[in-house]
Amino acid sequence: MSTEYDALMKIIKERRSIRRFKSDKIPKENIKMLIEAARWAPSGGNSQPWEFLIITDKEMIHTLKTVMTGVMANIQEGPLLICLCTNKNRKTTWTGYDIGCALQNILLSAHSMGLGACAIGGFDENFIGKLLDLPDDLEPCLFIIVGFPDKDAQAPPRRGVDELIVKEV
Ligand SMILES: Cc1cc2nc3c(=O)[nH]c(=O)nc-3n(C[C@H](O)[C@H](O)[C@H](O)COP(=O)(O)O)c2cc1C
Repeated sequence: MSTEYDALMKIIKERRSIRRFKSDKIPKENIKMLIEAARWAPSGGNSQPWEFLIITDKEMIHTLKTVMTGVMANIQEGPLLICLCTNKNRKTTWTGYDIGCALQNILLSAHSMGLGACAIGGFDENFIGKLLDLPDDLEPCLFIIVGFPDKDAQAPPRRGVDELIVKEV
């Protein structure tokens, strides 16, 4: 198999959800690189419905952790929180998938740069929107916490390829 596939698979397989971080700040250049990776994600009809809020203020990250108790309880406050938002004017039937593609690009590129990251979902959108003072046309849909990893994480088990392929028709 091609070495490009091997190199890509290494990044895909070695990426983990990281929930413990060192306190070191992330250079602005690296933050830009994460968003650069996101913007090249595929989207239905090339709608590019994503916009990002970069949160580096320690107090704001702490406040967000305090209000997202359900989803952030087991996650340490990292130096960077990215809020993936949907621009309502660019929404299509496929927006949820598009955001997932942008998420994966950010997670994989973070790992490739030696950063650790974890997606955070399932919070009160209206409350968070107000807290972050988001413009009316932006809906927060997912957060990603990012930082330099403080602890390696074990890979949770994956279902096997043979179990996933239902049949060949
Ligand atoms: C959309 C989405 C939302 C997630 N939300 C959370 C979350 O709120 N809290 C958390 O600890 N992990 C969250 N995760 C991380 C998953 O638990 C993790 O991806 C899964 O257990 C597989 O582990 P791995 O990422 O290390 O391969 C989320 C992942 C995705 C894709």
